[in-house]
Amino acid sequence: MSAIRIAPSILSADFARLGEEVRAIDEAGADWIHVDVMDGHFVPNITIGPMVVKALRPHSAKPFDVHLMISPVDSYLEAFAEAGADILTVHPEAGPHTHRTVQRIKQLGKQAGVVLNPGTPAKMLDYLIEDVDLVLVMSVNPGFGGQSFIESQLRKIEAIRKMIDKTGKDIRLQVDGGIDLITAPRAIAAGADVLVAGTATFKGGPSAYADNIRRLREG
Ligand code: DX5
Ligand code: ZN
Repeated sequence: MSAIRIAPSILSADFARLGEEVRAIDEAGADWIHVDVMDGHFVPNITIGPMVVKALRPHSAKPFDVHLMISPVDSYLEAFAEAGADILTVHPEAGPHTHRTVQRIKQLGKQAGVVLNPGTPAKMLDYLIEDVDLVLVMSVNPGFGGQSFIESQLRKIEAIRKMIDKTGKDIRLQVDGGIDLITAPRAIAAGADVLVAGTATFKGGPSAYADNIRRLREG
């Protein structure tokens, strides 16, 4: 399995200083910058759009991992690609043709991810997994930071790890929600190789970010 990557979610950053916050987590050792896009319709919260992604882009050369919690999603793929996203991750429930959505993301020259809500079975991936660069398992219901890790998702991570290994392809397995020093090692043991962490990265302010990221990575 590949090295563990940490993707801090800027949902827990200080929104009045987002550019500085992105620079701070970059310098603190973040591997990817996880951007949570919410529309107040697919999930009960509203966050940021392509203009903010574009404004943040010059603040880090690390991959921008853009988690789209919007529906319909297809009509916004191009805008986020142009804004500077490197990875676009979509929920199957956010559009009628997930396979086509994945194809479209790749046509745009970006990496494609599929994300499963806590109630969405791993089976959803049967005819998608060969075509994706990343699978994201939500370990909370999407919409907010600071929620508690849902235990049952560990079994799903294990099942998807097996599916990925069977393909023999280089596909990342990411987990998002309630990741802290207790749950991170458990998610890694189940087979995750990218950890999204909002609360656990940003707690304690900028002087703590490097330590927070290092401790999550060490499991
Ligand atoms: C939830 C988002 C997460 C969230 C994680 O809908 O997808 O990325 O920011 O926050 P924590 O790490 O605080 O659970
Ligand atoms: Zn997310």
